[in-house]
Amino acid sequence: MKPVALIAAATLAVAGSAMAQQSSGDPVRGKSVYARCAACHDLNTGATRLGPSLKGVVGRTSGTMPNFNYSEALKDKAVVWNAQTLDAFLGGPAKFAPGNRMAFPPLTNPQDRADLIAFLEQSAR
Ligand code: HEC
Repeated sequence: MKPVALIAAATLAVAGSAMAQQSSGDPVRGKSVYARCAACHDLNTGATRLGPSLKGVVGRTSGTMPNFNYSEALKDKAVVWNAQTLDAFLGGPAKFAPGNRMAFPPLTNPQDRADLIAFLEQSAR
């Protein structure tokens, strides 16, 4: 390899690791993002607010919290909530499950979503 190619390869490797770092969230920051969800979503008790409790949401199938009257859209979606599916839903709820009843605008900042998901993974139990 010519030196120039080596430098290019090294630069790509550095850029790659920086991107990997960006996609892993900071749960402490995520807690403040969650403040936007808290009016509608309980975290730990299982209580229903305007929306279903997020207790145990990571690993749960969409539309399956008992005692919550979900839209058909969310029940029919039947995805398991994990980092990927939560990211897709929160980045565009109406697009992810058209007809769902969560009146919340997309979280457009990917870092906000990653931080929030890290917080949910840690705290929504
Ligand atoms: C204005 C109230 C409101 C806000 C704010 C809100 N949600 Fe929701 N959310 C809902 C409702 C209502 C549903 C159920 C929608 C349906 O059945 O179609 C829901 C559904 C969900 C689900 C699916 C749960 C399941 O059991 O399948 C997740 C996950 C979720 N919300 C996460 C969030 C997060 C994270 C935030 C903050 C970024 C948030 N929501 C903000 C009202 C809200």
